Amino acid sequence: EKGGWSSFMAKEIAEDPEAVANTLRGRLVDGLPSLGELGSLDDDALRGIDRVQIVACGTAAYSALVGKYAMEAWARIPVEVDLAHEYRYRDPIVDERTLVISISQSGETMDTKMAVQHAIAQGARTLSICNTQGSTIARASEAVLYTHAGPEVAVASTKAFLAQVVALLLTGLHLGRVRGAMADDAIREVTEALEELPEQLRTLLADQDEIRELAQWMSDTRSVLFLGRHVGYPVALEGALKLKELSYIHAEGFAAGELKHGPIALIEPGQVVFVVVPSPRHQQGLHAKVVSNIQEIRARGARVIAVAEAGDSAVLPYANQVLRIPLTLPLLEPVLSVVPLHVFALELATAKGLDVDQPRNLAKSVTVE
Ligand code: BG6
Repeated sequence: EKGGWSSFMAKEIAEDPEAVANTLRGRLVDGLPSLGELGSLDDDALRGIDRVQIVACGTAAYSALVGKYAMEAWARIPVEVDLAHEYRYRDPIVDERTLVISISQSGETMDTKMAVQHAIAQGARTLSICNTQGSTIARASEAVLYTHAGPEVAVASTKAFLAQVVALLLTGLHLGRVRGAMADDAIREVTEALEELPEQLRTLLADQDEIRELAQWMSDTRSVLFLGRHVGYPVALEGALKLKELSYIHAEGFAAGELKHGPIALIEPGQVVFVVVPSPRHQQGLHAKVVSNIQEIRARGARVIAVAEAGDSAVLPYANQVLRIPLTLPLLEPVLSVVPLHVFALELATAKGLDVDQPRNLAKSVTVE
């Protein structure tokens, strides 16, 4: 039931805070991840693996990319991400020391299921991150971590994406702890930030008028680009995917560092570019690099909408508009920065009079290869 909402998607975005809270619920004890539900994928098993491969399709594959950054940083284990339909056809190097994590909201996506079966046939350990209880992929895997985001009806995924990212972050912390790559204090710093996310999402969602106005103003736009770097890169990909799915506008996401290697050729006066700006607290100076990307595209006439941390004033002289997100740890930022992009896609499609819950040609879960 939609309740008072104009669409399931609007309702599901409003449920972001609850979805994230539900993914965390019962999985932190004294500030440390507690994932006893993984059954035979216990601490010994997780100490025995030497690589992680994540397989998924669509939005779920973008959550996987965020997971890769976090897992490598925290657990110091190599992580590869594959689109599930590419995975088994490239004859991946996988054995009993490989942990294959599949991510699927529905748990029924055929491409993802086939990738899991391929991994099992090679002797891999398998963990699935699913939203739907008892789904095929959940049942096929050795262990399952349910996202508990609640039913998602709109074809385009929103709250389930946030929940997938959070489940991957928990998995990364758990691996980091079990494998001795991360001290308990460092883990607690992250889990404290994780526990703040639901409230921060509430604050963020409380004021969406600016994005609505922007979307209405842009309803005739024909192309939108999205740039991001580090964990902001998958957010840019997700922002572009959602916009093309819902509003049938050409949209593309790029890694900001790649701009000078090609995409900058697309910049002409009036081109709208969303830039997901990394936190100034990011260790490797990425913030300054992205700000300089913004200067480069502004100089060529782009109209820049920055998604930036509250208080980040460095973007102000260059961006046409700044959408603010609350402060969190850099690796957790996607959970917040993706929200304005989801809302933007919803509002733009609404402004164009389109059916946001049932975009043309798409299905909620694709059960054929
Ligand atoms: C697509 C849906 O077909 O499948 C997307 O339209 C979704 O919204 C993708 O991200 C993967 O689905 P699932 O259920 O495996 O996460």
